[in-house]
Amino acid sequence: MAKFVLPPNSRIQPGEHHAAANGAANTRIFKVYRWDPDGGKNPRLDTYEVDLDTCGPMVLDALIKIKNEIDPTLTFRRSCREGICGSCAMNIDGRNTLACTMAIADIKGDVRIYPLPSMRVVKDLVPDMTHFYAQYASIKPWLRTQTPAPPDQERLQSPADRSELDGLYECILCACCQTSCPSYWWNPDRYLGPAILLQAYRWIADSRDESTGERLDDLDDAFKLYRCHTIMNCASACPKGLNPAKAIAEIKRLMVARQ
Ligand code: SF4
Ligand code: SF4
Ligand code: FES
Repeated sequence: MAKFVLPPNSRIQPGEHHAAANGAANTRIFKVYRWDPDGGKNPRLDTYEVDLDTCGPMVLDALIKIKNEIDPTLTFRRSCREGICGSCAMNIDGRNTLACTMAIADIKGDVRIYPLPSMRVVKDLVPDMTHFYAQYASIKPWLRTQTPAPPDQERLQSPADRSELDGLYECILCACCQTSCPSYWWNPDRYLGPAILLQAYRWIADSRDESTGERLDDLDDAFKLYRCHTIMNCASACPKGLNPAKAIAEIKRLMVARQ
């Protein structure tokens, strides 16, 4: 049986311990992945004791408190703090999710925080999204039409056609699903992954788009689309409750239907 071993410079070392201020009675332990590309050292797991009596309820509140009051070197992305921008996606308590919508109270024991798996790390909890965004751009995520637009109004949709986009337009491109997909872990260069395929289907399903055939031609590839083996990790990972596997199945169905 093959044995997989992390290269020595990837092994996570024990890190620094930051004790809570004297007098804090209601503390919680946060164990946070740290890696500095400039230090030449291995990644480490730092421990922070956080006083929950002076902290907001979400994991992102704790990270902000750590950065503001305990350790300003901690690096992570965040923006909206309400599950809209997707930038605070990370692996918390063993699952990919948004730090701003994950309640500390819903986690048992120490809170373990790592960057999204399978992506190159820029620093600490910040993954490199360059390849993900390039894959997104490759599906041409905009309305593509051949007919001229109506001169005095938008391109209209019936309510029924508009409802076809429900479950798709809500995607915030956080990559929680993408980085929970085993097929994507193995073939990130050639498989588009659940987030990008859900986005691809969002445009295929749009009644105003006039490039469905071309979009299907572009996806009709053994790796881009057919690496999905319906493992369904993506659906359980999505913090917005979306189902990328269903969108992928719809694309496959359309592929068969047009033959
Ligand atoms: S259903 Fe497909 S896209 Fe979703 S996790 Fe499984 S292999 Fe990946
Ligand atoms: S489908 Fe869900 S998990 Fe995947 S990128 Fe969109 S919002 Fe994030
Ligand atoms: S900060 Fe925007 S989704 Fe979490």
